[in-house]
Amino acid sequence: MAEDLYEHPDVYDLACCSFRNLQEEPDGLHRLFQKFALIPVRSVLELGCGPAPNAGEFVIREYNYIGLDICSSMLEYCRRKHAALGSAAQFILADMRHFSLPLPVQAVVIIAGSFLAGDADDALAILNSVARALVPGGLVVFDSCIQCPRTDPMESHCYELHVGARRLSVMTGPRQFDVARQTVDYELFVAMNERGQRTQYRSIDHFQLFYPQEFRLLVERSGQYEFLDWWDGWDLTHRLGGVGPMKRPILALRRLNSH
Ligand SMILES: C[S@@+](CC[C@H](N)C(=O)[O-])C[C@H]1O[C@@H](n2cnc3c(N)ncnc32)[C@H](O)[C@@H]1O
Repeated sequence: MAEDLYEHPDVYDLACCSFRNLQEEPDGLHRLFQKFALIPVRSVLELGCGPAPNAGEFVIREYNYIGLDICSSMLEYCRRKHAALGSAAQFILADMRHFSLPLPVQAVVIIAGSFLAGDADDALAILNSVARALVPGGLVVFDSCIQCPRTDPMESHCYELHVGARRLSVMTGPRQFDVARQTVDYELFVAMNERGQRTQYRSIDHFQLFYPQEFRLLVERSGQYEFLDWWDGWDLTHRLGGVGPMKRPILALRRLNSH
């Protein structure tokens, strides 16, 4: 019987974040904020932050960082792991579909596909909560949150990691796909062997896959954002579109002035 992976944030952090280039996302986001925000961006809210692997890199770039997650174990882990960042990094327990902040932020980011909407109503609820949390002229950036035929949601990935005395085998991929609803149960499975002691961990995220034009329609329906542009990866000369394999869809919206 596998343990719940999200209840073991240290294992999630090792299995899914330890090999990532932690500068890449804050650097790419910093360029987007400078180019497109109509206001200086000093505060960043990350939805579905998990173990907040980039929190320190945001603070180094002089942003105030707020991580939001629905899982209290993740947030307790974040508070311990990032204690040295002091008040520059805060962590909030909330559901991304229904939250409000005491003070608005200047940017909201969703990194590594954590736009976890079960259907279009959830997606609109997230867009509405984000609009409430953002100052006019501020940005929301979605990393890997829209699907394209070229980012095949049915693909599985396996890899092995050796970290100190721990050996991890990681498998990520879909368990169930509902073709009509475009929903997927996406599994993260980790088998860890630490000095002969073997433990298995699993999490399942349930979410709808949104194709680019569907997502644009949802943004239009929310009526609170200007669509700025989209790119394949953090290189802003590489707009989404055309043919060939896609790496990573990035999409930016700007909060309109309230009426
Ligand atoms: C794949 S993990 C974290 C990914 C993280 N953004 C990263 O870059 O590693 C997804 C996270 O979303 C959180 N989550 C799932 N549903 C949520 C919701 N409705 N509101 C807020 N967080 C949610 C989970 O608890 C989990 O920590």
